[in-house]
Amino acid sequence: MSERENKPNTSNWFMWFDVRHRDIGDWAFVLHRLTALGLVLYLGMHLIVLGTLTLGPEAFNSFIELAHNPLFIFGELLVVAAALYHGLNGLRVGLTSFGVAIPYQKQLWYVVMAIAVIGSIIFAISMFTA
Ligand code: HEM
Repeated sequence: MSERENKPNTSNWFMWFDVRHRDIGDWAFVLHRLTALGLVLYLGMHLIVLGTLTLGPEAFNSFIELAHNPLFIFGELLVVAAALYHGLNGLRVGLTSFGVAIPYQKQLWYVVMAIAVIGSIIFAISMFTA
């Protein structure tokens, strides 16, 4: 596929997520966008769950029971990983937007990925062994 065909625009929005034949910077962007969407979805679900807590202690206790489910804990781990990546990469994007460290933006992304992966592993260990 030529670079021109692979250029995203509003009529072929799915191309935003198509990283084939693209550079590492596009992977960084797609991951930033996916984690952003994931965090927005989580924020909505979080507010809905908090809303059910106003229904009384039974609702609260049944939520706490659900929160101990390994699938739920895995979902929380995805939120942590997404927040780590999105926050750190957001700082990288912010820096380069202000003209700071532009020649090193690729190396900075590797640092972001390393911290996000190592941080997620540390969180995974503490979440699943607690
Ligand atoms: C430390 C915290 C955060 C930082 C430093 C940060 C930074 C950024 C930056 C710099 C962008 C623009 C990226 C670009 O122009 O290429 C962005 C986009 C975005 N962020 Fe964050 N962000 C943070 C937390 C969050 C959270 C908690 C949410 C959701 C609840 C969120 C949702 C979004 C969304 C929806 C976009 C638009 C993504 C897109 O258009 O692809 N961000 N963020």
